Amino acid sequence: MSDIERVLISEEEISSLVSGIAQRINTDYADKNPLIICILKGSVIFFSDLVRKLTIPLEFEFMSASSYGNSTQSSGIVKLIRDVKVSVKDRHVLIVEDIVDSGITLSYLLDYMQCEGCASVEVVSLLNKTARRVKEVDIKYYGTDIDDLFVVGYGMDYAERYRNLPYIGILKESVYS
Ligand code: IMP
Ligand code: MG
Repeated sequence: MSDIERVLISEEEISSLVSGIAQRINTDYADKNPLIICILKGSVIFFSDLVRKLTIPLEFEFMSASSYGNSTQSSGIVKLIRDVKVSVKDRHVLIVEDIVDSGITLSYLLDYMQCEGCASVEVVSLLNKTARRVKEVDIKYYGTDIDDLFVVGYGMDYAERYRNLPYIGILKESVYS
């Protein structure tokens, strides 16, 4: 696509990162019937690839939280837009994110989950962008670290676009201006 400066992580690389995460979850959650929660919308592609590589009994749900608006920086204010439709009490919960940047969204969701009395909560994120971390969050399962770059594709957007790219890429400067 002409708006893309370069590919950061190819389809093949993504697939092997997802397989690596899935293997660990298959082992760690073999008899826990985890409730796997997809955080919309950015995680949906990663989530759907991940769950198809899981071979254990599981259930899934969707939640939506937003802190971004249409810019490339977190607003710092998180809104819960869609809650889970089942009780998370006594469940082993896995929260699936596309990318953790400031950590604000995730720490909000984690606080919320703890309040609701889960048996355990862990975080799964494809990407871990630590350069601008504001809130310390423990990400048990993640694919890879990335530098302080704004990425799109494989579910991730800029102003709601580019989510459908099958790879993870960097936009041309001209797209932002
Ligand atoms: P945080 O609250 O700053 O950690 O942001 C978390 C959310 O912001 C992620 O789930 C993404 O939806 C979005 N986000 C953070 N970094 C990027 C990026 O580089 N590209 C696209 N979306 C991003
Ligand atoms: Mg997101």
